[in-house]
Order: sequence, then structure tokens, then C-alpha cells
Amino acid sequence: MRAGIIGCGAIGSFLAREIDRGNVAHMKLVALFDIDLNKVYKLVESLEHKPQIADSFEKFLKLPVDFVIEAASQQAVFQYAEKILKQKKPLLLMSAGALADDRLREKLFRVARENNTKIYIPSGAIAGLDGLKAMSNVRLHRARLTTRKSPSALGVKTEKPVVVFSGNAHEAAKRYPQNINVAIAFGLAAHAIDILQVEIVADPGVSRNIHTIEVEGEAGKLEITLENFPFPDNPKTSFLAALSALQVLKNIASNVVIGG
Ligand SMILES: NC(=O)c1ccc[n+]([C@@H]2O[C@H](COP(=O)([O-])OP(=O)(O)OC[C@H]3O[C@@H](n4cnc5c(N)ncnc54)[C@H](O)[C@@H]3O)[C@@H](O)[C@H]2O)c1
Repeated sequence: MRAGIIGCGAIGSFLAREIDRGNVAHMKLVALFDIDLNKVYKLVESLEHKPQIADSFEKFLKLPVDFVIEAASQQAVFQYAEKILKQKKPLLLMSAGALADDRLREKLFRVARENNTKIYIPSGAIAGLDGLKAMSNVRLHRARLTTRKSPSALGVKTEKPVVVFSGNAHEAAKRYPQNINVAIAFGLAAHAIDILQVEIVADPGVSRNIHTIEVEGEAGKLEITLENFPFPDNPKTSFLAALSALQVLKNIASNVVIGG
């Protein structure tokens, strides 16, 4: 499978190097695109097998790519996703927060269906989406996400823990778009975007990005807390997010997929 990556920052570069080293069976990296060409050149220097460089999205679309990885921004999802899906190419979306926009989400899901292709949304910085999906086959009573980050990661100054946001997922998407990827992956997996309550806490006592997901429903109760180490190249991103995308790529190539 010939992969193309849009966005050569922390996650895109990590995935590019993993594919380049042969760590994803049957996948070859053939194309890179970033609005910041310097990022692309820097990444290409570190790769053994040199992919083609596109200096515009239009050129990227013309390259012989079978699988597209978006690791750029929510804006990139608005700009490019529909065109990629219309070319019948499967698309892995890191910037899942863009799907908080109901119109965009419904359009992309429809275009994927009409073109018989797939959208992959990795678990990202959280885990347990298999359980959430299973539990959502019956009624859920309650869904809650609590995110705890250092004040600097949330752009606030405080000397004690303070709740900077409390409300539903739609409001969180508008007020804290950079923190919404996790909420959207959670909400979509549990079919619970409309009942999902989000709380964001700025806590000077933490250096990790801590996410607690809680769900209660007819199948029982699920609660998972993750304490994620930041990614060295971009402290706003959790290392686990990049690893979860790598795992999605490995699952695609694997003959045995564990976890549902
Ligand atoms: N799903 C999750 O849990 C999760 C976790 C962490 C990050 N993310 C998201 O994944 C994306 C990538 O994260 P990162 O840490 O690698 O970010 P990053 O800032 O390190 O890299 C992003 C790269 O994309 C490029 N870019 C941005 N907009 C673009 C556009 N419209 N067209 C082409 N290139 C563009 C930038 O120039 C940059 O090089 C972000 O949207 C981030 O919010 C998701």
C-alpha cells in the first residue's frame, strides 16, 4: 500500500519514520505534503527511502497514493478530506476534532459511503474505544470526559487547579478546539456526542496530559484514566496519540485484529 502523509509535524514525522523503517507491513511511504515546506525537507533528510514532495495539495492529489494520513490540522480536514475520499482513497484522520462540525461530519461520512472507502479515526490520546463502541449497542445514561493539563498547555496562569471549561461537547469544540480531538473520538465511538459532558482543568500540579473517560449505561460502567507523556517534538501532543495512529496502520495490514 502506497501511503501519503499530509502534515509533517510531530505525528506525521513519527509515522513517516516508522513506515520508512519497514515497521508497517505492506506499507510504503510515497508522498509528503505540508504547507511549511521546510518541515517536509527536514523530514525527508531523515528518511532512507525518499518519497515525492508535493508543494501544493493539488499536486499531492495527483501522486500515486493508495492511503492518506492527515496529521495536519482541523483546517486541513475542512480543506482536503472530501477531495481525498472522492478519489476513493481511505483516509486516516488525526484532527478528528474537525468532525465536531455536524455538517462536515455528515458530509464526509456520506462521501466515504458513496465512494466505498473508509475514514479511520485513531483512539488518539485516549483508550477503551473498543469498550465504548460495544457499550453503545445498548442505552448509555451518562458520558463524561475530564481532561487535566498544565496551565501552560491550556494557555492560562493559575497557582491552583481551576476548571477552565465545563459543558457539553459542542460547546467544548467551539471554546477549546485544540483540546477537542479526544472528546470527538470518544463521542463518536460511544454514539454519545449529544450527551457527552466535558470538563477541562488547568492544574499546576501535573506535567502529563491526563484524560479520564467515564460511561454508564445498560451494559455497566466504564472508567479509564490515562496519564500521557507529552511528545518531545510537540508537548501539546501526547506520545500515545502518535502510537495509536501507528497501531491503526498496523491493524490494516494485519491478518489478526485484536480488540473490537
Ligand atoms: N486524535 C488525537 O487524540 C490527537 C492527539 C494529538 C494531536 N492531534 C491532532 O493531530 C494533528 C497533528 O498533530 P501534531 O502534534 O503532529 O501537530 P504539529 O503542529 O506538530 O504538526 C502539524 C503540521 O501540519 C502542517 N499543517 C497544518 N495545517 C496544514 C494544512 N492546512 N495543510 C498542510 N499542512 C498543514 C503544519 O505546517 C505542521 O507541520 C493536529 O491537528 C492535532 O490537533 C490529535
